[in-house]
This record gives sequence, C-alpha cells and structure tokens, in this order.
Amino acid sequence: MKKPILVTAALPYANGSIHIGHLVEYIMTDVYVRGLNMCGEEAYYICADDTHGTPIEVNAQKAGVKPEDFVARFAKEHVADFESFEIAFDHFDSTNSEENKKWAFEIYERLKAGGHLTEKPLEMFYDEQEKRFLPDRFVKGTCPFCKTTDQYGDVCESCKRTYQPTDLVDPYSVVSGTKPVIRSSTHLFVDLSRFASFLEPWVRADGRMPTEIRAFVDTWLKDGLREWCISRDAPYFGFEIPDRPGKYFYVWLDAPVGYISATENWAKKIGDLDRVNLYWRRDGARIEHVIGKDIVYFHTLFWPAMLKAAELTLPSRVHVHGMLQVNGEKMSKSRGTFVNAKTFRDHLDPSYLRYYYASKIGPRPDDIDLALGDFVNKVNAELVNNLANLVSRSASFIKTRLGGRYGKLPAGVETEAERTFVAEKTKEAEAAYRNFDLQTAVRCAVEIGDRGNKIFQDAMPWKTAESDPAGTLATVTLCLNLARAATAIIAPVVPSIALRIYGILGLDGAPKLISEATLWDLQEREIGEPERIIDRITLKQVEAIIEASKPAESGDRTEKAPEKAKKAPAEKPAPKKESKVEAPPNEGIISIDEFSKVALKVGLVKNAELVEGADKLLKLTVDLGEAAPRTIFAGIRAAYAPEEVIGKRVAVVANLAPRKMRFGLSEGMVLAAGPGGADIQLLTVSDAAKPGSPIK
Ligand code: 2FM
Ligand code: ZN
Repeated sequence: MKKPILVTAALPYANGSIHIGHLVEYIMTDVYVRGLNMCGEEAYYICADDTHGTPIEVNAQKAGVKPEDFVARFAKEHVADFESFEIAFDHFDSTNSEENKKWAFEIYERLKAGGHLTEKPLEMFYDEQEKRFLPDRFVKGTCPFCKTTDQYGDVCESCKRTYQPTDLVDPYSVVSGTKPVIRSSTHLFVDLSRFASFLEPWVRADGRMPTEIRAFVDTWLKDGLREWCISRDAPYFGFEIPDRPGKYFYVWLDAPVGYISATENWAKKIGDLDRVNLYWRRDGARIEHVIGKDIVYFHTLFWPAMLKAAELTLPSRVHVHGMLQVNGEKMSKSRGTFVNAKTFRDHLDPSYLRYYYASKIGPRPDDIDLALGDFVNKVNAELVNNLANLVSRSASFIKTRLGGRYGKLPAGVETEAERTFVAEKTKEAEAAYRNFDLQTAVRCAVEIGDRGNKIFQDAMPWKTAESDPAGTLATVTLCLNLARAATAIIAPVVPSIALRIYGILGLDGAPKLISEATLWDLQEREIGEPERIIDRITLKQVEAIIEASKPAESGDRTEKAPEKAKKAPAEKPAPKKESKVEAPPNEGIISIDEFSKVALKVGLVKNAELVEGADKLLKLTVDLGEAAPRTIFAGIRAAYAPEEVIGKRVAVVANLAPRKMRFGLSEGMVLAAGPGGADIQLLTVSDAAKPGSPIK
C-alpha cells in the first residue's frame, strides 16, 4: 500500500528573523510537498521553531525577558513570514513543548537502557563572572596559527584552521568579555561507534541521500565515529535531564525530536492522535527530511542512531540542498544582501522569489546563486512575459474580440502535436517534482508557455479575427489550453498566481493535480473575468531591497557595540570545510590599471541576422577598422530586429578572448544597458566616431 509522506524542513532557531537564505529550504520543501500532492500522493509538511540552547538563553537575558517569551516573539514573526511566502505547513510547532519533552525523555531512556550512554568529566572554559560554561562559539581569542585576533573557539575565519577553544591565545568570554578559566564538569555521551554497523548500510541505501553527500558521510564513517556529548550545564534553556539535576539536554538532542512532537501536535489538531504512533512507531509513513548541507552530520548519523535506539521509524530520505549566495557571494549585512523575508515582501511579491528559487533548484546539493540581474530578467522573461502574458493576451482577445466563449480546438495535426508535447512535459514535470528537480518542472511549464506564445504570435489573430472568426477562436482556444497546462504544472511553485490564472480561464478554485495539464477541456464554455496576474519587476525595485537591508550608518560605525552587548553567536559549530569570510568591503573595486586592460572600441554594424536555433541572439558583422570585420553574437534579439541594428555605431569589447559558440565563433562583445530580454539598449556612439576608435 502507498504510504503517506511526512516531509520536514530543518527547524529554524527562534533567535532571529527568517531571511532569504532560510527561505531556500522552506520554499523548496513547500514546492516539493505541493508537487507530491499534485502528483496524487498524500504528503504533509511539518516544521517547528528550534527554541533551546545557550544563544537563545543569553539573548533572552540580554533582552531582559524570559526565554519562553523571547521564543514566543520569534514564533509569531516566523509564522507570519512563512504565511506571506505561501509556505503552507500542515503544522508549525515549537520544540519547547510538553510533547517534545516526553519524546526526548523516551529516547533518552532507550539510549540508557540500550547501554549506549557513558559519563565522564570534560574540561571546558568557564566564565566566572557570568557563572556559566562557555560553548566553543562563546569564547574568542587570537588564532594560535595565524595570530588573527577575535576568532571563535573552534575555527579561524582568516586561515580556516580548526582547533580547541583552549588553544586560543588570550581567550575571552563573548558574554562578559572576561578571561575564562578551565573547569571540569561531568557529561553524558552517546557512544556513536556502537551504531556503526547499523549506520553503514543505512547511509549507503539507494536514494537515502544525494550521492555527493553520501560520499562525505562515508568518509566520516570510515574515519570512525566519535562520542557525542548530549548534556549541558545550567544555566541552559532546554529540558533538564530527569536523573541528572542541573544538567540539560544539548539543543541538538531535542531539536530533531521536534519532528516527532510536532507530528503529535498536528495529529491532535486534526483529531487523529494515532497518526503520531502510526507514522513514527509503526512505519506507517515515509519520513523525509530536507536540510542544508551544514547540518548533514546531525541528520545522517546522530538522528538515525537515536531513532534506531528508540525503535522509531527511520527517515526514508534525507534531501540535502546547497547554500544561498547572492551575486556569487555569501550573503552580507554590509553589502545589503542579507535580506529578511519581511523586507523582501515589503518591496516585492513573494511569488517572484518562489519562482526564481524553483527555477534554480535541481536534485543535487549545489549552491544557489540569487544573481540579482538574472533574477529580474528571469522572472520577467518567464513568469511575466511568457506565462502571464500568454494568459492575458489570449483571454482578453476572446473576451473583447471573439464573444467571451472558448471555441473548439483546431481539428487535426496541430492540436495533436500539442497534445503529445503536453503529455510528455506533464510526465516529465511529475517525475521532476518527485525528484526535487524543481528547475526541470519549471522548464516544462515554460516550454509549454513558449509554444502557446509562438502559436499566438504566428497566427496574428488580430489580423484574422474579422475574416475568419471561427478559425481564430480555435487557435486562441488552443493557446489558452496550453496556458492552462503550463499553469497546472507551475502551480506548486506559484500557487496564488495559478489560482488567479484559473479564475481568468473560467475554472473554479486552484489547480489540484498536475495531470489537469492534459485535460484540454477549455472548449465551448465561458471564459472568466480578466484580472491582473503579476507585473514585471525592475532592477530598481531590487536595489531598493538591498538598500533597505543595509545597516544604518550610525549604529554601524560611530556606536560600535561592544562584543558583550552583541547578539549571542550560534551554538552550532561553524561548518569546518565550508566556512568563508565576508569579503573585504572594497571587493569588486578594480584599479585603473585593471580597467585599462579592457580595450573598448567603436564598431560599425555592417550586417545583422537571426540565428537559427537561438531565439535570444543576433549575429552581427562588425567593422572595427581592422582588415576584416568581426562576427559577434549578441543576446539582443528580444529588443532589436536585425534591420534596426544595421548601421549603428556600438561600443565593443575588442580584446575579449574569442568564444566558440554552437553557431560559430564570437569575436568580441557589444555593450548594452538594461536588465536584459526586451528591456535592453545598445550603447551607441555618434556617427562622427570612426570604426575602431578607442573608447576611453
Ligand atoms: O541549524 C539550525 O538552524 C537548526 N536549528 C536546525 C535544527 S533541524 C532539526 F534537527 F531540528
Ligand atoms: Zn588563523
């Protein structure tokens, strides 16, 4: 029997706002779950706030509130952020619940009963002023290797070397700024090596995790599994260990347990309490976790070991995604690319981000680049100009020129060819959704939209509406059936846009199944009412988001907060291999010498022609005052007809290495301004300039 699928995304810490980096995971998981349901599966999306640990406890204290109140504030904000991005959890919970405590205790008791726990003293830094032990990230000092000051206790951000906090030169407590002392305390450890023979085949099972991830989990297994410390000393915000007064579970013990307790609270909410046991004790569901590549160790080693010890259902799949970059770099507060969900939605419709992320996410854990220019071009070209435009222009044509009712589809091969194409793309999109290959699903919808637009454009209905109304109506009806197919396929990505389009098409409610793409039932019935679908965006709007995300000048420079008053660092150790430092603020600035390496010249366009098989390019023949003119392929076709370009004097990068393209060799680059697509202007020079003249 087909099992329901319980999908989780990693639990965000209730210690900060949701930002566009978080949103990669919550959006992609939302699209995945919606996609599964629209493929006829029964899938649920469960998540919760991760509420425990030293950073939250310290930050609550600094804010002068109880940790419970501190996390409640963030819970409210997170729920609002997720809702505004149409992230439709079946249930969003908190790890600070009685249910979570109960499950954490159960797992602890099972670990103990199975003989998996050991206890031993551990030497750690202790802040005598604050009367607390300090996690690695709460101690800073000078790197023992490269001597860079103000480095965390686990890794140097300058030379990237890792070490113990006690190796730091001149260590100080991040909480009080005082010099910590070394103190011993007894802690509980899970002996993970006892699980090696279970974990090895579990990790290697087909489809368990992306192969790239399995490769490095395998190296951890081969290197031997170390003991894992699961206790922390008071003061700590978390669950006190039942038989160890004054000791608390480390946040990473009870955080994943939140997947289970959130399921329990969801089961209560829907009035079917048995589901938690059915799913987690009796293997009655496929459990799938979606995580970033920074928390693989926890989810592929610790967590399955805990579940195994407690005889609970193991995850069928751990899907791992890459990290977000903005313009090819790590998100940065100073550059304004550390954008909170709220800032984004205050400026732009969240559908744009959902669309862009989905169009970039494949099944592999590659990093995702939110390149801002590309973001503008892509959503304008694909979501607005392609899909929304096909719907608007075809629907309004029927409404205003052809009587407001669909006709019959054209008889014969034309419709048959489209049916075959859509059937193939629908199958491809369904398989893609199941496989987290969101970009392929998006591409399927775009290709269908392209066909619809081409049919509309080639048929020129505005010319034939009078002379052949029936034939014209049939063609536009075909276009709208294609638009509907694309909409059904793209619905998991942009649900509210899909709902609006269905309304315009005269369909009730939102798309429910991807397979509605192949219904072809928009015939001889009323069309719906026109409505705005979604507008084009401009680079200016995106720049406003970046501006709004930059830190205020004063707080940043003149009143530099002392370390003590800053927000507590995350408790999670920095990912050892991937840690990067923010680029210095002058990155991206080049010297005059570097700039003068670029040879800019005036080029006279002697000829321009379309390129078969490349709908974005024009092939230009450009005179640069040299013995022979050059061939340059330029991505300006959406903005210029060939005849408009001939005779223009344009700015050319003349010393760019020639580039071999599918259509021939491109021997330079013409410069243009604008975000791209149809919105682009060639940089032209006055007629007085001679071909080949340098531009300085
Ligand atoms: O890394 C983090 O942001 C953690 N709060 C993720 C926890 S996921 C799960 F295990 F709870
Ligand atoms: Zn260093």
